[in-house]
Amino acid sequence: MLLLQISDPHIRPRGELLEGRVDTAAGLTHAIQGIDATGLRPDVVVLSGDLVNDAREPEYEHLAELLGELSVPIIFVMGNHDDRALMRRYLTVPDHAGIDVDPVQYVVDLDAEHRIIVLDTTQPGAHGGLLDVERLEWLDRALNDSRDRSVIIVQHHPPIESGIGFMDQYGLDGADEEAAILSSYSHVAAVLCGHLHRPLMSSVAGVPVVVSPSSAAQVALDLGGGPTAYTDEPGMVTWHRWSDRAVASHFAQAGASTRWVPSWAMTTDAVDSQL
Ligand SMILES: [Fe+2]
Ligand SMILES: [Fe+2]
Repeated sequence: MLLLQISDPHIRPRGELLEGRVDTAAGLTHAIQGIDATGLRPDVVVLSGDLVNDAREPEYEHLAELLGELSVPIIFVMGNHDDRALMRRYLTVPDHAGIDVDPVQYVVDLDAEHRIIVLDTTQPGAHGGLLDVERLEWLDRALNDSRDRSVIIVQHHPPIESGIGFMDQYGLDGADEEAAILSSYSHVAAVLCGHLHRPLMSSVAGVPVVVSPSSAAQVALDLGGGPTAYTDEPGMVTWHRWSDRAVASHFAQAGASTRWVPSWAMTTDAVDSQL
């Protein structure tokens, strides 16, 4: 099973840049074009939140137009910059139970052995995340009902501290309670997140937590408590190879990159001589 995670594209209305400098539409387009550029064929594309920047209709119109290039099933996840009703109106989404009520939480079976559980960690009007009692109970039930297969949980806000202070201030209330639930199960292969705009690995209750960087812009790697800052690092995506009950996650620049072959690998003889 192969998942392409595209996170935090922060789409703006057509022709408008983010902060007057970042072409977020180009970032998403590059991320989509990466499918052809790499030759990798994802079974599903996971959009892990902050799909637009200001939760406005012209942004969702633009997003829907850009996603029209995709011929792969999409799983969308709510982010703190999103609007639930507009997301439903503009994205063509499959008819999963729970997708049409708030919070937007649902389950997708990729096949008989691989299940994705989508959690909604948003609270309208706030940038920080929340898993309240109802959502935690829903997660517990969903995990209990999935014991016969391997599960990936996707949620926008990571259930961890990153050490980047200006992002951690918009963390996830309920993360400790989520960790307690995860500790009761052994069939969760990974928790996939966004929100931090950096490639990042951690774990909760022994479960790998993979934070995908943004297809648009990355935040500065500042572990010293400095003020909010971004960098000009390229837009990125994450490819998840999900085999058996484990996930191998590959962070990659969005779009095409030039390939080259080292001289020692040019011929079979040369390869043999290196072994
Ligand atoms: Fe974001
Ligand atoms: Fe976010």
